[in-house]
Amino acid sequence: MTESLISGKACEPVRVCTLCGERIDSPVFARMGEQCCCEACLLKRVQPGAGPNDPERAPSALAEALAELLDAREQETGLHSKRVACHTLVLARRFTADPAVLRQIHPGALLHDLGKIAVPDAILLKPGPLTTGEWAVMRRHPELGYQVVSKVPGLAAASEMVLAHQERFDGSGYPRGLSGKEIPLGARLFAVIDTLDAMTSDRPYREALAYDVAKSEILRLSGTQFDPAAVEAFVAEEATLRAMVEMKCHATEAP
Ligand SMILES: [Fe+2]
Repeated sequence: MTESLISGKACEPVRVCTLCGERIDSPVFARMGEQCCCEACLLKRVQPGAGPNDPERAPSALAEALAELLDAREQETGLHSKRVACHTLVLARRFTADPAVLRQIHPGALLHDLGKIAVPDAILLKPGPLTTGEWAVMRRHPELGYQVVSKVPGLAAASEMVLAHQERFDGSGYPRGLSGKEIPLGARLFAVIDTLDAMTSDRPYREALAYDVAKSEILRLSGTQFDPAAVEAFVAEEATLRAMVEMKCHATEAP
């Protein structure tokens, strides 16, 4: 990806996305040569499949709709789920160019937390630390999500990713305590991106941390929490991921 980030002021004459024609309200967006591109269009460029009306995009489009619903429930802003799914694809493309595989990884990442829809508000939105009993409820979300997504024809591999997204490379995750390559590739890649996104996002108890802080933590956990091959891909894609995280930080500051 060759886009560079620029401020709204520097691009003041062009306040419309040249790809979708929508007005760009975020103060930061991507530049492609002389043209500007909004965040939503930037993310679409990373997604698998052809045009928006391509029937093969239907599962991903439905997954996007459900993920938006979950984002609203969790009071996440804007494009959280789409962003995480696209970041995961950036890593996945270093391992495979097979569109069939990428078409599973995208909805798998989008729907990773779908099972949280069944977690009561008092637990899901609790501002303080969870009790042991509340954690037990929360930890059921991968299986609850799997039970739903696995019923969708064509999303079998995506549902395995949903089930495995809280596993850790060293076997200390849940729900099954899988380790190494027992964990689906998409889930191993997603785990790195999930940590990157969580650390570089504002939380009620702290402001977003810098990219370099998240990077240090991810490198530290290579081989234990994370697959070293996924961390290698994360390092190799630093320029793209850093730009996408930078865009997220500025986008959430938009008035
Ligand atoms: Fe989760």
